[in-house]
Amino acid sequence: GFDVAPVTIAIDGPAGAGKSTVAKRVAERLNLMYVDTGAMYRAVAYLCAQEGIDVNSECAVEAVLDAHRVSFEEGEDRTLQVLIDGVNVTSRLRAPEVSALVSTVAAHPRVRQLLTEWQRAFAERHSVVMDGRDIGTVVLPHATVKVFLTAAPEERARRRQEEYRRMGYEVPLDEMVKNVIERDRKDSERAVAPLRMAEDAVRIDSTDKSIDSVVDEIVQLVENAHVR
Ligand code: DC
Repeated sequence: GFDVAPVTIAIDGPAGAGKSTVAKRVAERLNLMYVDTGAMYRAVAYLCAQEGIDVNSECAVEAVLDAHRVSFEEGEDRTLQVLIDGVNVTSRLRAPEVSALVSTVAAHPRVRQLLTEWQRAFAERHSVVMDGRDIGTVVLPHATVKVFLTAAPEERARRRQEEYRRMGYEVPLDEMVKNVIERDRKDSERAVAPLRMAEDAVRIDSTDKSIDSVVDEIVQLVENAHVR
Protein backbone atom coordinates (compact mmCIF):
# COMPACT_ATOMS: atom_id res chain seq x y z
CA GLY A 1 0.00 0.00 0.00
CA PHE A 2 0.88 3.67 0.14
CA ASP A 3 3.12 4.91 2.86
CA VAL A 4 3.42 8.65 3.14
CA ALA A 5 4.56 8.92 6.76
CA PRO A 6 8.27 9.72 7.02
CA VAL A 7 10.45 6.73 7.78
CA THR A 8 12.63 7.22 10.86
CA ILE A 9 15.44 4.87 11.75
CA ALA A 10 17.13 5.36 15.12
CA ILE A 11 20.60 3.92 15.65
CA ASP A 12 22.04 4.30 19.13
CA GLY A 13 25.06 2.81 20.84
CA PRO A 14 28.46 3.53 22.36
CA ALA A 15 31.39 5.26 20.63
CA GLY A 16 33.10 3.19 17.95
CA ALA A 17 30.35 0.59 17.49
CA GLY A 18 30.19 1.54 13.80
CA LYS A 19 27.04 3.67 13.98
CA SER A 20 28.07 6.39 11.55
CA THR A 21 29.43 4.03 8.87
CA VAL A 22 26.39 1.78 9.13
CA ALA A 23 23.88 4.66 9.31
CA LYS A 24 25.36 6.31 6.25
CA ARG A 25 25.15 3.08 4.22
CA VAL A 26 21.59 2.39 5.36
CA ALA A 27 20.68 5.94 4.31
CA GLU A 28 22.22 5.37 0.86
CA ARG A 29 20.46 2.03 0.41
CA LEU A 30 17.05 3.38 1.39
CA ASN A 31 17.50 6.85 -0.05
CA LEU A 32 17.09 8.62 3.29
CA MET A 33 18.94 11.49 4.85
CA TYR A 34 21.65 10.62 7.37
CA VAL A 35 21.62 12.82 10.47
CA ASP A 36 24.70 12.45 12.65
CA THR A 37 23.56 13.89 15.99
CA GLY A 38 27.04 13.40 17.47
CA ALA A 39 28.19 16.04 14.97
CA MET A 40 25.69 18.48 16.51
CA TYR A 41 27.15 17.97 20.00
CA ARG A 42 30.63 18.13 18.48
CA ALA A 43 29.76 21.45 16.83
CA VAL A 44 29.01 22.95 20.24
CA ALA A 45 32.25 21.49 21.67
CA TYR A 46 34.21 22.80 18.69
CA LEU A 47 32.82 26.29 19.17
CA CYS A 48 33.71 26.19 22.88
CA ALA A 49 37.27 25.09 22.03
CA GLN A 50 37.61 27.90 19.47
CA GLU A 51 36.36 30.52 21.90
CA GLY A 52 38.22 29.18 24.93
CA ILE A 53 34.99 28.55 26.85
CA ASP A 54 34.96 26.52 30.07
CA VAL A 55 32.72 23.62 29.01
CA ASN A 56 31.88 22.84 32.62
CA SER A 57 29.81 26.01 32.81
CA GLU A 58 26.43 25.49 31.15
CA CYS A 59 25.83 29.26 31.20
CA ALA A 60 29.08 29.92 29.37
CA VAL A 61 28.21 27.26 26.77
CA GLU A 62 24.75 28.78 26.26
CA ALA A 63 26.23 32.27 25.97
CA VAL A 64 28.65 31.21 23.26
CA LEU A 65 25.80 29.50 21.37
CA ASP A 66 23.81 32.74 21.58
CA ALA A 67 26.73 34.77 20.27
CA HIS A 68 27.30 32.59 17.18
CA ARG A 69 25.19 31.20 14.40
CA VAL A 70 25.30 27.40 14.39
CA SER A 71 23.32 25.87 11.55
CA PHE A 72 22.82 22.46 10.01
CA GLU A 73 21.99 21.66 6.43
CA GLU A 74 21.73 18.71 4.10
CA GLY A 75 24.91 18.26 2.05
CA GLU A 76 25.16 17.02 -1.51
CA ASP A 77 25.82 13.47 -0.33
CA ARG A 78 22.70 13.59 1.91
CA THR A 79 24.77 13.86 5.09
CA LEU A 80 24.51 16.62 7.65
CA GLN A 81 26.76 19.63 7.19
CA VAL A 82 27.58 21.84 10.17
CA LEU A 83 28.11 25.57 9.71
CA ILE A 84 29.36 28.02 12.30
CA ASP A 85 28.89 31.67 11.38
CA GLY A 86 28.44 30.49 7.81
CA VAL A 87 31.69 28.48 7.68
CA ASN A 88 31.45 24.74 7.02
CA VAL A 89 33.33 23.05 9.91
CA THR A 90 32.08 19.48 9.37
CA SER A 91 35.52 18.02 8.60
CA ARG A 92 37.02 19.43 11.84
CA LEU A 93 34.53 17.94 14.26
CA ARG A 94 36.20 14.59 14.86
CA ALA A 95 39.56 15.96 16.00
CA PRO A 96 40.77 14.64 19.40
CA GLU A 97 40.55 18.14 20.96
CA VAL A 98 36.84 18.17 20.19
CA SER A 99 36.30 14.56 21.33
CA ALA A 100 37.92 15.42 24.66
CA LEU A 101 35.29 18.11 25.41
CA VAL A 102 32.15 16.70 23.88
CA SER A 103 30.89 14.41 26.69
CA THR A 104 30.96 17.33 29.11
CA VAL A 105 29.06 19.56 26.68
CA ALA A 106 26.53 16.78 26.01
CA ALA A 107 25.76 16.41 29.71
CA HIS A 108 24.19 19.90 29.96
CA PRO A 109 20.37 19.65 30.00
CA ARG A 110 19.66 22.93 28.17
CA VAL A 111 22.18 22.11 25.44
CA ARG A 112 20.47 18.74 24.98
CA GLN A 113 17.04 20.37 24.93
CA LEU A 114 18.08 22.70 22.14
CA LEU A 115 19.72 20.01 20.01
CA THR A 116 16.82 17.60 20.58
CA GLU A 117 14.45 20.23 19.16
CA TRP A 118 16.63 20.66 16.08
CA GLN A 119 16.82 16.89 15.61
CA ARG A 120 13.05 16.46 15.83
CA ALA A 121 12.56 19.27 13.33
CA PHE A 122 14.81 17.42 10.88
CA ALA A 123 12.87 14.19 11.28
CA GLU A 124 9.60 16.03 10.63
CA ARG A 125 10.83 17.36 7.31
CA HIS A 126 12.85 14.37 6.04
CA SER A 127 12.86 10.60 6.15
CA VAL A 128 15.98 10.01 8.20
CA VAL A 129 18.48 7.60 9.60
CA MET A 130 19.58 9.28 12.80
CA ASP A 131 22.41 8.05 14.98
CA GLY A 132 23.37 9.04 18.50
CA ARG A 133 22.88 7.95 22.10
CA ASP A 134 19.28 8.88 22.90
CA ILE A 135 17.50 8.76 19.55
CA GLY A 136 15.30 5.72 20.26
CA THR A 137 14.74 6.66 23.91
CA VAL A 138 14.22 10.44 23.80
CA VAL A 139 14.45 12.14 20.40
CA LEU A 140 12.30 9.79 18.27
CA PRO A 141 10.42 7.46 20.62
CA HIS A 142 8.12 6.45 17.75
CA ALA A 143 10.86 5.63 15.26
CA THR A 144 9.95 3.08 12.58
CA VAL A 145 12.96 0.94 13.52
CA LYS A 146 15.29 1.23 16.51
CA VAL A 147 18.70 -0.39 16.59
CA PHE A 148 21.16 -0.54 19.48
CA LEU A 149 24.55 -1.16 17.91
CA THR A 150 27.36 -2.37 20.17
CA ALA A 151 30.79 -3.99 19.93
CA ALA A 152 33.47 -5.09 22.39
CA PRO A 153 35.45 -2.13 23.85
CA GLU A 154 38.79 -3.36 22.39
CA GLU A 155 37.24 -3.58 18.94
CA ARG A 156 35.70 -0.11 19.28
CA ALA A 157 39.04 1.32 20.42
CA ARG A 158 40.77 -0.30 17.44
CA ARG A 159 38.25 1.23 15.03
CA ARG A 160 38.61 4.69 16.59
CA GLN A 161 42.40 4.35 16.36
CA GLU A 162 42.05 3.58 12.63
CA GLU A 163 39.78 6.57 12.17
CA TYR A 164 42.31 8.84 13.91
CA ARG A 165 45.14 7.37 11.86
CA ARG A 166 43.33 8.31 8.65
CA MET A 167 43.09 11.89 9.97
CA GLY A 168 46.82 11.91 10.76
CA TYR A 169 46.71 11.37 14.52
CA GLU A 170 48.60 8.51 16.13
CA VAL A 171 47.05 7.40 19.45
CA PRO A 172 48.32 4.27 21.28
CA LEU A 173 45.73 1.49 21.53
CA ASP A 174 45.77 1.24 25.33
CA GLU A 175 45.07 4.97 25.55
CA MET A 176 42.26 4.57 23.02
CA VAL A 177 40.71 1.74 25.09
CA LYS A 178 40.80 4.00 28.16
CA ASN A 179 39.21 6.89 26.20
CA VAL A 180 36.42 4.70 24.86
CA ILE A 181 35.59 3.24 28.27
CA GLU A 182 35.70 6.67 29.93
CA ARG A 183 33.40 8.19 27.32
CA ASP A 184 30.94 5.28 27.63
CA ARG A 185 30.91 5.79 31.36
CA LYS A 186 30.20 9.53 31.06
CA ASP A 187 27.54 9.00 28.39
CA SER A 188 25.82 6.22 30.38
CA GLU A 189 25.95 7.84 33.80
CA ARG A 190 24.81 11.36 32.98
CA ALA A 191 21.51 12.44 34.52
CA VAL A 192 19.80 13.59 31.32
CA ALA A 193 19.17 11.22 28.38
CA PRO A 194 21.89 8.71 29.26
CA LEU A 195 23.05 6.13 26.76
CA ARG A 196 20.78 3.12 27.14
CA MET A 197 18.93 0.73 24.90
CA ALA A 198 15.25 1.47 24.22
CA GLU A 199 12.95 -1.38 25.27
CA ASP A 200 11.77 -1.88 21.71
CA ALA A 201 15.19 -1.64 20.09
CA VAL A 202 16.94 -4.52 18.33
CA ARG A 203 20.44 -5.12 19.70
CA ILE A 204 23.12 -5.84 17.10
CA ASP A 205 26.66 -6.69 18.20
CA SER A 206 29.06 -5.74 15.40
CA THR A 207 32.26 -7.15 16.97
CA ASP A 208 32.58 -10.04 14.52
CA LYS A 209 30.31 -8.77 11.76
CA SER A 210 31.11 -6.99 8.53
CA ILE A 211 29.62 -3.58 7.85
CA ASP A 212 27.69 -5.06 4.95
CA SER A 213 26.02 -7.72 7.06
CA VAL A 214 24.96 -5.18 9.71
CA VAL A 215 23.57 -2.90 6.98
CA ASP A 216 21.67 -5.83 5.45
CA GLU A 217 20.22 -6.70 8.85
CA ILE A 218 18.93 -3.17 9.40
CA VAL A 219 17.51 -2.84 5.87
CA GLN A 220 15.68 -6.12 6.51
CA LEU A 221 14.23 -4.74 9.76
CA VAL A 222 12.93 -1.69 7.90
CA GLU A 223 11.36 -3.86 5.20
CA ASN A 224 9.71 -6.05 7.83
CA ALA A 225 8.36 -2.97 9.64
CA HIS A 226 6.65 -1.92 6.42
CA VAL A 227 4.86 -5.18 5.64
CA ARG A 228 3.46 -5.49 9.16
O1 DC B 1 28.97 9.64 18.19
P1 DC B 1 29.98 10.70 18.54
O2 DC B 1 31.29 10.15 19.06
O3 DC B 1 30.19 11.69 17.46
O4 DC B 1 29.31 11.50 19.77
C1 DC B 1 29.95 12.58 20.37
C2 DC B 1 29.48 12.79 21.80
O5 DC B 1 28.18 13.37 21.83
C3 DC B 1 29.46 11.56 22.68
O6 DC B 1 30.27 11.78 23.83
C4 DC B 1 28.03 11.40 23.12
C5 DC B 1 27.34 12.67 22.73
N1 DC B 1 26.07 12.43 22.08
C6 DC B 1 24.95 12.46 22.86
O7 DC B 1 25.06 12.64 24.07
N2 DC B 1 23.73 12.28 22.30
C7 DC B 1 23.61 12.07 20.98
N3 DC B 1 22.39 11.90 20.46
C8 DC B 1 24.76 12.01 20.17
C9 DC B 1 25.98 12.18 20.75
